[in-house]
Amino acid sequence: MIPLLSLSSSAAAMAAAARLLFLPFLVLLATAAEPATSVNDDVLALVVLKSGLSDPTGRLASWSEDADRACAWPGVSCDPRRGRVDALDLSEASLSGRLPRSALLRLDALRSLALPGNNLSGPLPDALPPNVRALDLSGNALSGAIPASLASCGSLVSLNLSGNRLTGAIPDGIWSLPSLRSVDLSGNLLSGNVPGGFPRSSALRALDLSRNLLEGDIPADVGEAGLLKSLDLGHNSFTGGLPESLSGLSALSFLGVGGNALSGELPAWIGEMAALERLDLSGNRFVGVIPDGISGCKNLVEVDLSRNAFTGELPWWLLGLPLQRASVAGNALSGWVKVSDDAAGTLQTLDLSGNEFTGAILPEIGTFAKMQYLNLSSNSISGQLPASIEQMVLLEVLDVSGNQLDGNLPPEIGSVVALQKLVMGRNSLTGGIPAQIGTCSSLITLDLSHNKLTGEIPMTMGKLTSIQVVDLSENMLNGTLPMELANLASLSVFNISHNLLSGSLPISSFFDSIPDSFISDNAGLCSSKNNSCYGVMPKPIVFNPNSSSGPLSEDAPSSSSNQHHKKMLLSISTLIAIVGGAVIVIGVVTITLLNLRARAKSSRSALPTALSDDYHSQSTQSPENGANSGKLVMFGRGSSDFSADGHALLNRDCELGRGGFGTVYRAVLRDGQPVAIKKLTVSSLVKSEDEFRQQVKLLGKVRHHNIVSLRGFYWTSSLQLLIYEFVPGGNLHQHLHECSEESSLSWVERFDIIMGVARALVHLHRHGVIHFNLKSSNVLLDTNGEPRVGDYGLVNLLPMLDRYVLSSKIQSALGYMAPEFTCRTVKITEKCDVYGFGVLILEILTGRRPVQYLEDDVIVLSDLVRAALEEGRLEDCLDPRLSGEFSMEEASVIIKLGLVCTSQVPSQRPDMAEVVAMLEMVRIPQGSSSEDELV
Ligand SMILES: *[C@@H]1O[C@H](CO)[C@@H](O)[C@H](O)[C@H]1NC(C)=O
Ligand SMILES: *[C@@H]1O[C@H](CO)[C@@H](O)[C@H](O)[C@H]1NC(C)=O
Ligand SMILES: *[C@@H]1O[C@H](CO)[C@@H](O)[C@H](O)[C@H]1NC(C)=O
Ligand SMILES: *[C@@H]1O[C@H](CO)[C@@H](O)[C@H](O)[C@H]1NC(C)=O
Ligand SMILES: *[C@@H]1O[C@H](CO)[C@@H](O)[C@H](O)[C@H]1NC(C)=O
Ligand SMILES: *[C@@H]1O[C@H](CO)[C@@H](O)[C@H](O)[C@H]1NC(C)=O
Repeated sequence: MIPLLSLSSSAAAMAAAARLLFLPFLVLLATAAEPATSVNDDVLALVVLKSGLSDPTGRLASWSEDADRACAWPGVSCDPRRGRVDALDLSEASLSGRLPRSALLRLDALRSLALPGNNLSGPLPDALPPNVRALDLSGNALSGAIPASLASCGSLVSLNLSGNRLTGAIPDGIWSLPSLRSVDLSGNLLSGNVPGGFPRSSALRALDLSRNLLEGDIPADVGEAGLLKSLDLGHNSFTGGLPESLSGLSALSFLGVGGNALSGELPAWIGEMAALERLDLSGNRFVGVIPDGISGCKNLVEVDLSRNAFTGELPWWLLGLPLQRASVAGNALSGWVKVSDDAAGTLQTLDLSGNEFTGAILPEIGTFAKMQYLNLSSNSISGQLPASIEQMVLLEVLDVSGNQLDGNLPPEIGSVVALQKLVMGRNSLTGGIPAQIGTCSSLITLDLSHNKLTGEIPMTMGKLTSIQVVDLSENMLNGTLPMELANLASLSVFNISHNLLSGSLPISSFFDSIPDSFISDNAGLCSSKNNSCYGVMPKPIVFNPNSSSGPLSEDAPSSSSNQHHKKMLLSISTLIAIVGGAVIVIGVVTITLLNLRARAKSSRSALPTALSDDYHSQSTQSPENGANSGKLVMFGRGSSDFSADGHALLNRDCELGRGGFGTVYRAVLRDGQPVAIKKLTVSSLVKSEDEFRQQVKLLGKVRHHNIVSLRGFYWTSSLQLLIYEFVPGGNLHQHLHECSEESSLSWVERFDIIMGVARALVHLHRHGVIHFNLKSSNVLLDTNGEPRVGDYGLVNLLPMLDRYVLSSKIQSALGYMAPEFTCRTVKITEKCDVYGFGVLILEILTGRRPVQYLEDDVIVLSDLVRAALEEGRLEDCLDPRLSGEFSMEEASVIIKLGLVCTSQVPSQRPDMAEVVAMLEMVRIPQGSSSEDELV
């Protein structure tokens, strides 16, 4: 029996020893004619068995030929009466090698051989211990065909060869083994047709042929094995239909035929398999209507009809039987998913995804209080997610993506505390993300992408400490990101691309290295790490009413969401106050000319004269004479006209207004000339005297009849004053927004203001001065109604162009601020003035404020006008108070010019000289007629 000893190479050493030591025994063994009967023979057979195996973990180390009995060896058990080995159980013992046929044959008292989960290889032995009842060689690497001789192993009760590499066909006759109760051949490479021949007398309870390459029809007589409780034929290539004999399997509790190529309509008799608890018909080619007959399976717990081609409506019983798990995913079912009042409510898993269901999700869905997994994705379901979702307290997965849901994400979602995955992408959800999302503390995945969500990302999301995947891309979310998001330690995906978000990213290692594609296309997000900016900035930056400290304030977490309605209203009133404050801006007189003159007369004698004498004495002192004394410098002719102890001058009575950079007072020069004096409130930020002087002189050189001229300045380290010419006619903001209908500006007046401001800007830009703070309240009107642009270039007095300081100092956040201000890496050029000018044009022609805060909405003027233009109803947005003759054609050209000026991308805006050229072209065709009106 030399072949007996042909051992695997890994066992070669041991085999050599065995050959030497046991040769006599082996000869004896091989030549013995009758079966071994002695206890010693068991020892011998096991030692031979061992010699054929590699045993790297030494499980068989104590198996020695010196023993008289094997009963105490690990894995071995004996029949207590006869002392013979009756069971060998070595599961997952890391044994490799082959099973020697003759050693097995010798173990003639063996009733159970279990070597699952080892690494046995080679073919199955073609003979088994003669009395074996249970053979479990599952989870090895056995190959070759199942020997036909298996069919003569009459004592076999259970056979488990699953998870090997067995090939070929299932031998004929195997089903007739009289005692066979359980056969598991799953997970091999068996092929061909499954033989029939299931006898009526079959004892078979469980048959598992799943995960092979079997084909052809399911044997027609499989249902003859009337005791079958479990039949798994799944994941083969069976064709045809379900054989009718199955209907006789009244004990069958599991039928699995998923993953085949079965076809045809489902027979109603499935319902006759009354014991059925689990039915898997998934992944076949079944067609037609799902028969109501299945409802006869009263014990059904799990039904999987997914991935077929079923049509018709969802069968009523799917929600009515006490099922726990049901799937009809990936069919062509249609109609409204009706949940009746008597729904059993026992479902834990329901998958209706990938069908053609329509209608709304009914509130009765809340009946399913045991639901853990609900997938309704990829249907045509509409309406709102019902608030009754809050009753589904065990829900872990909710996927309603790819439908037509609209309305809000109900705040009740916060009650679904078990939720781990919330997938609502690709719908039409509107409104904000409710702050209550923060109570879904188990959340791992949140996908709200491709909706129409608005508002801010609630800061409560910072409480979702388990969250790993957040996809909010393709919405209309705005505002800044809550800094609380930095707390999310498990985050691996945070996709907020294609929104209207702005400001800084939270500071955490995740956000510091966030990929561009997660944040691209927003209003302007800045990474605080490397100051890079993203997005094409589709929207102007508007003041955030929920944020107390300006739109760009970096460390003030934008105080959350829409629910805080009270708070928001409050902030709006604060805001109105700010707007009110801004009305009276730097360099602006808010009282009428007459009033002013009257007052000016009365103060003329008092203040400036009181100051003037002091000045002459102080002016001779050197600048080093201390912080409290300073020098007033007037440009040009007026330089010695006037002197001041700055502090004394700035009497509260003469205050004209306050702005971001300072307070403005009215005063009169000794020669009677009125001036506006701005006391800078940014003193601590102001540059050194030399630099200050240099910058102010530069601004003082800019003279133009559309520009409020800077006449002089006063400097001490603690007090800086700027002296401007006084323009008495009020500011444009007042004229546009605070005037009665009768006194409102005419078309020609408005046009001339636009033109004048444009020319002023051209002039400023030519002198290298960027205004930085253009807005209607900084456009003053002189007594002739000519516009005079004030408050320009003050930013240059600050030590550096810090946009964050800037944005809080100037009120430009109220809709005039160019989007590039949020981006530290985008150079700010004079094109930011062009943006502000564009907004100004729209404001002048519509009579509307750049940003209007309604109770629960914000209207951005340029959006409004752009939308009106697209819808061809530009006329609707023109100021109804507009008087004087004008043509709509002309108006629409100017409005379009305004829109071009408010392009998001600086390079797409024209420069001011081009703007002036265009305006002149608009004016010329009107020729003398407009001149006439002017006069
Ligand atoms: C399984 O056995 C084969 C040969 O029979 C051997 O090459 C392989 O290393 C073994 N694998 C393990 C995990 O023991
Ligand atoms: C066969 O063995 C595999 C792996 O050991 C096991 O998972 C399976 O349940 C067994 N089959 C039967 C019918 O006991
Ligand atoms: C829901 O079903 C779809 C399609 O069947 C599937 O792709 C998706 O992964 C499922 N969702 C979840 C969360 O399991
Ligand atoms: C965001 O948009 C909502 C309305 O869609 C508005 O109420 C809110 O003020 C906006 N917030 C910011 C910062 O623009
Ligand atoms: C982020 O979302 C957008 C839009 O949904 C998508 O195109 C992009 O691939 C996503 N980025 C990543 C890295 O998944
Ligand atoms: C800034 O960080 C982002 C994200 O890590 C990276 O893609 C980009 O290249 C960085 N920019 C610079 C200028 O380092």
